[in-house]
Order: sequence, then C-alpha cells, then structure tokens
Amino acid sequence: MNREPHATNAALMARRHAAVPRGVGQAHQIFIARGRNAELWDVEGRRYIDFAGGIAVLNTGHCHPEVMAAVKAQLELYTHTCFQVIAYEPYVELAERLNALAPGRFPKKTVLLSTGAEAIENAVKIARAHTGRAGIVAFTGGYHGRTLMTLGLTGKITPYKAGFGPFPGEIFHALFPNALHGVSVADALASVECILQNDIEARRVAAFILEPVQGEGGFYIAPPEFVEGLKKIADRHDILIIADEVQSGAGRTGTWFACEQWSVAPDLIATAKSLAGGFPISGVIGRADIMDAPGPGGLGGTYAGSPVGCAAALAVLKAFEDERLLERSRSIGGRLVAGLRRIAEANESIGDVRGLGAMVAMELFEDGDVARPDAELTRRVVAEAARRGLVLLSCGHHGNVIRILVPLTASDDLIEEGLRVLADSFDAVR
Ligand SMILES: Cc1ncc(COP(=O)(O)O)c(C=O)c1O
Repeated sequence: MNREPHATNAALMARRHAAVPRGVGQAHQIFIARGRNAELWDVEGRRYIDFAGGIAVLNTGHCHPEVMAAVKAQLELYTHTCFQVIAYEPYVELAERLNALAPGRFPKKTVLLSTGAEAIENAVKIARAHTGRAGIVAFTGGYHGRTLMTLGLTGKITPYKAGFGPFPGEIFHALFPNALHGVSVADALASVECILQNDIEARRVAAFILEPVQGEGGFYIAPPEFVEGLKKIADRHDILIIADEVQSGAGRTGTWFACEQWSVAPDLIATAKSLAGGFPISGVIGRADIMDAPGPGGLGGTYAGSPVGCAAALAVLKAFEDERLLERSRSIGGRLVAGLRRIAEANESIGDVRGLGAMVAMELFEDGDVARPDAELTRRVVAEAARRGLVLLSCGHHGNVIRILVPLTASDDLIEEGLRVLADSFDAVR
C-alpha cells in the first residue's frame, strides 16, 4: 500500500470522482483515517462523533477490542474454505446462537450469507421453495437492498429503482401503516386484502415481507395491531411472514431482534449489518421445516458465512452479554428521544420524534406542517452538523428524516455532546 501521507478530503474526493462511478453516492465529503468506538478521525486529523454507525453496522462501535481480537485470532487459523467444501465450527456455533435468539417456540435453523440483500434474496428463495408459490407482498417505503429481486421488493423508485427494471415478477406493494402521514392500520390491512382480491390470488402468495421498523423508509415503526392483523391474513391463506431485520436487528431496538417485541413470531428473519460489528456477514433464521425446503446445494455461496465474519459475530454477541448492550440500547433510546424532543421545542420544523430502543429519528417539515416535508432544511442541518464534527444520516421517502444510529457502546457524555452539536446546527441554519 502506497498511501499519500498528506491527503486531504478534497484531493481524495477528486480522485474518487475520477475513479468511482457517480452512482455510488456519498453522504459526506469525508475520508476516514481511523475510527474508535463512536468517534472517527478524517485524513486531515479532524475528529467526528459518529451518529451514523456506517448505516446501522456499528452497534458495537468502530473496532470493538473484543471483536478485533476475535478476528485477529481467526486470521491466524484460516480465512476461507467455503463452508460447502470444508466446514468450520464458528459457522455452526453462530447458527446455534441465532436459532436460540430468534423468537417463536419452534425448532429453527440458520443459513449464513454475506450481505443484507443476499439474506433477503435467500429468504424469498426459501419461502418459495417451502410454499411452492411465487408471489411476495412487500410494503410502500420498504427498503430491501440493491440486487434486482430486492430492488423489486423495495418500495421507493428514486434513487434506488429508477432505470434498473424490469424487476422479477409476482411482487406487489401494499401500504405500510403510517399514522403521521394518514395511513391507518385499517388502511394498510385493507390494501393487503385488496392485492389478494385484485392482483394475485392468496394461494399463489408465498410471503409477506416487512421491516419491523422501516430503515431507509424513515424509521416508521410497524404498529403491533398491524402485525397482528397481517398475521391473521397470513394464517388464513398459509402465507409466510418474513421480517427484514437487516437494519432493525442486532440489538438496535432494545431487543436482539425488533420482532421479539411482536406478539407473533415471523416464519423467517433476515439479519446482517451490526451482526458482525463491521465485518460482512448476514443470515436467514427460520422455522426448521421451512429452512429445510430447498434441496442440498440450493443455498450457500462462495463467501457465505465467512469464518472471519462468524468469529466477529460471536464476539459481538459476547460483547452484548458482557456490556449489557440491550439494556444500553433502551437507555440510549430514552436519552436520544428526550434530547431530540428538547431540540424540537425550540424548532417548530421538527414535526415528529420517534424511536424504538436506540433506533431513533426526527422528521422535518416547513413550519411544522406535515403536508410539507422539508428535505432542504434536513440537508442543511446534516451538512452543518458534519462541519461541526457530527456525522448524521438522513432517510425517508422525502429525505426529510434525520436518523440516529450511534453505537450502543458510546458513553452518555459523548451522546450528549452529539446532541449539543445537533442543537447548535439547527440554530446555525435557521
Ligand atoms: C432493511 C434493509 N434490508 C436490506 C438491506 C440491504 O442490505 P445490504 O446493503 O447489506 O445488502 C438494507 C440496507 O440498508 C436494509 O436497511
């Protein structure tokens, strides 16, 4: 490696623009030099508080010491065999751990993969193999990844789907409930029934797929009555429920899986992101009989369930126990919601503050009018915060939501410091 010792963010951005296609977006014009827990330093030596966590990947922070130690130990032993060629214990152990963590009083099995999109692809394959049906009902505002099937499932055109179709067939979108924007639980359930009456007969639908808390879509939480109503429809027609926990899982919402807070257990759960604390791994956990539907050779992948990812994920699970990070997720969530509400009192543009555990967001509107989402103000606050040393991410259908995904290992002092920068950023752009 021959790295430029005096690189600046601007010089590296210029090289990036020349070498990397513009389709790969970049929220901030920052190049990292080093990251530790909930802080990072850029190539110019500037320090930032990280409230983005690499989009929900760093629930245990940058370079958690135990995760790094586990990965280093694994690197000394072996890095790759392909599990389908020569197996290794960490894969099996991680599957056992995830089976035990997933809700539902039935035997479970887990297949490990590499990315969130790959987990969703496999959940759909497994659901189809088990039911012998093709149809999938997803929801408006849902985000499931960037491969063609997961783009098909994603419920937002720009920027994700535009220009990339056609997508696989037999995918339908029902309304996701969103009380703030006038979609009641009854409306959402009626839209599911409507699809089953008008678009595809129920006996050809394999699964409903939903995020317990929509991530890219804007941190909207699926209300318990909605999940219960959906389950009733699913049971009536032997349709499976897939929970996409790629963003909401791994302790973000105060339980390991957000769907543990549902009164019904999903049949399949997709997990990824924070599972391995910054190393790529993902998985599908589900009812054993469903998971066994695909025949031998039907599932897997060259790098799927890499030994390094497995070692990292097992260390993440240990850190959650040792540092009681689920409790921490709930207390950080309370602190963040209180902090954002304080900021909202002084800023009428903030029309809503919401969260489940530490998956917390606020939504911005012109003059607080819910009919006028304020993407421009959101962009300005996020940019101002970055100038002041706080990394934030926006999301939502209109790009008017600021989401917080701070590591659960961050100290209260650091979180309060980040909240102060956020408040100051609002003051500065007003
Ligand atoms: C809910 C959800 N599902 C799926 C994905 C896709 O995961 P990946 O980017 O690892 O493919 C994401 C990524 O943001 C996500 O938030």
